[in-house]
Amino acid sequence: MIKILGISGSPRMESTAYAVQEALRAAEATGGVETQFISLKGKTIQPCIHCNKCVREGKLTCTLWADDATEQLPLVHEADGIIFGSPVYGMGITPQLCAFMSRFRGTYGVLKDNPHYFARQVGGAIAVGGTRNGGQECVNNIIYGFFSTHGITPANGSLCVYSGACVWSRDQGAQGAQEDETGMANCRRIGEKVAKLAKALKDNKEI
Ligand SMILES: Cc1cc2nc3c(=O)[nH]c(=O)nc-3n(C[C@H](O)[C@H](O)[C@H](O)COP(=O)(O)O)c2cc1C
Repeated sequence: MIKILGISGSPRMESTAYAVQEALRAAEATGGVETQFISLKGKTIQPCIHCNKCVREGKLTCTLWADDATEQLPLVHEADGIIFGSPVYGMGITPQLCAFMSRFRGTYGVLKDNPHYFARQVGGAIAVGGTRNGGQECVNNIIYGFFSTHGITPANGSLCVYSGACVWSRDQGAQGAQEDETGMANCRRIGEKVAKLAKALKDNKEI
């Protein structure tokens, strides 16, 4: 059994939450997969201030702030697969997801000794915009950039889903996402790929 964590970086429980959960359903359908969904809605998440306290103390997770991210950060480290979803805000990710992702500075402590420490963990990206071409690929590139900087293995969707799933909500919330058939199919493709790669890598001793 592997564990896949889905995180919606939206401050609402609407289109991004729906899209991430669609990907998690597809991951579960591959068998042998347990999923968990986290929404950043209503969460207080301080951004990293580069104090390097976590690095000095040799801790994987942030030791400065005690806030709503504190108990969720370890869940990311423990998961075999992670799927980050973000609404498109100004052709970028939301400030909530940006703050959350900034809190992984502590991984430096293990990566400096073993750059492949997180290589068996697989990451997938989902971007949801109100406009058809509103910056979804920019968002997915930021999320894949996060995975790359931590040595997490990125899962693409292969043919026609090159840079993660791009969803067009038409600014209609969860229903808008649900009605984007292509976007939903691509979310499922990402969910399946993350699950299959995570299963293949879980007990791999080569990396
Ligand atoms: C501050 C802000 C900036 C936005 N910028 C963009 C944008 O650059 N491109 C786009 O396609 N949609 C943009 N949107 C629309 C949202 O991405 C869209 O409604 C999305 O589905 C919201 O996700 P949610 O329902 O999960 O909250 C923006 C919305 C807000 C509130």
